[in-house]
Amino acid sequence: MISQSYAFLATCARGFEPYLCEEIAALCTIHPEPASGCVLFEAPLEAGLQTCLWSRIANKVEILIAECYALRDEDIYALGTKLPLEPWFSPESTFCVRAHSSDPKFKNSLYLALKLKDGIVDQMRKRWGKRASIDTETPDVEITMRLSQRRARVYVELQGQPLNMRGYRRRQNEAPIRETLAASMIAASRWNPSHQAFIDPMCGSGTFAIEAALMATQTPPGIQRHFGFERWPAFPDFQHLWKELRCRAKETSREARKRHHGHIQAMDIDDAALDVAQNNAQTAGVSDLIDFRKADVLKLEVSNAAIVTNPPYGERITVGAYELPEFYYQLGRVMRTCVDSTLTIISTAALLKKNLHMRPEMRIQTYNGPLECEVARYVLGKGTQHG
Ligand SMILES: C[S@@+](CC[C@H](N)C(=O)[O-])C[C@H]1O[C@@H](n2cnc3c(N)ncnc32)[C@H](O)[C@@H]1O
Repeated sequence: MISQSYAFLATCARGFEPYLCEEIAALCTIHPEPASGCVLFEAPLEAGLQTCLWSRIANKVEILIAECYALRDEDIYALGTKLPLEPWFSPESTFCVRAHSSDPKFKNSLYLALKLKDGIVDQMRKRWGKRASIDTETPDVEITMRLSQRRARVYVELQGQPLNMRGYRRRQNEAPIRETLAASMIAASRWNPSHQAFIDPMCGSGTFAIEAALMATQTPPGIQRHFGFERWPAFPDFQHLWKELRCRAKETSREARKRHHGHIQAMDIDDAALDVAQNNAQTAGVSDLIDFRKADVLKLEVSNAAIVTNPPYGERITVGAYELPEFYYQLGRVMRTCVDSTLTIISTAALLKKNLHMRPEMRIQTYNGPLECEVARYVLGKGTQHG
């Protein structure tokens, strides 16, 4: 298993595929190809394990285990009856099957998943005389089928719980940003930890500052958690390799931490938010690396900083004394005074465009949960482009 090469698919927030390619290329010295909402790469198992352990941007990491040309529902069932079982499943495993289809011929993804599951279960009964049971909450094995242009591809997921679930966010405030999206925005901010301060002036649960601290100290985001592949029957074949990768990762992080002398600040106007953020930072083991402070972003005065933030947005919200558009107008006014800095921000495209009055040097259309939004990066101070 260790020497075999696999076709991997790693998913990420839409628009951040180039950043995930960059990250995986640096991790595994391979060249992933960007696709829509994911990246693809061919590599030995070790690359998949490293991506699980180290990727800050990926949400899921999957191995392609079967594919076919599909014209009818029966083709999907037949694919299930031929899926390689042993490395991933045992009769004692629990599993679930999901399907995503962009093929107009196969519109009902739930039905597709059911067809594939029926094929898998019939194969199990034939081979083992019994079948593994379904668990949609915390299955041992997660199977995802993706169908487009008559091609059905079946993947087994490596990570188990999605990779954004690092394990440190025990408490959260309203509207916390997904950890992987926060890390993607930090990558897009091009923050340089050794030359610039990092500031989230509206930190909520502290996600950006915690991700920044993990990044600056080269701490693998997955070091505190378990992964789905640890429950595969084939795990003993590569357990040794996994242990070695984890040991190496801990050593890298220990060394990087000794060298770290960066400055990371997290602020919020709300005491309760700061309390939650500090608690989360403690769980992540980085509370000593973050300077938490109660402050109003509209009084911010900083220079030479990467400001990365997620202000309130949504409908019918007021922020302090301001309606949202006025708050964003004031935010733009304050940000333009931050010398030699950059602002990387997520919000709705309309709020950013109409109210900040700056022209972004980079923008990405993405989703924050179900909400369509925009991530934009602005040069602040003398280099600000007024918009
Ligand atoms: C959308 S939440 C941020 C969520 C955060 N990224 C997380 O992961 O939990 C927006 C935050 O902005 C804070 N906020 C609102 N107005 C503020 C102000 N004038 N100054 C500083 N923080 C403010 C709120 O208290 C809230 O915690």
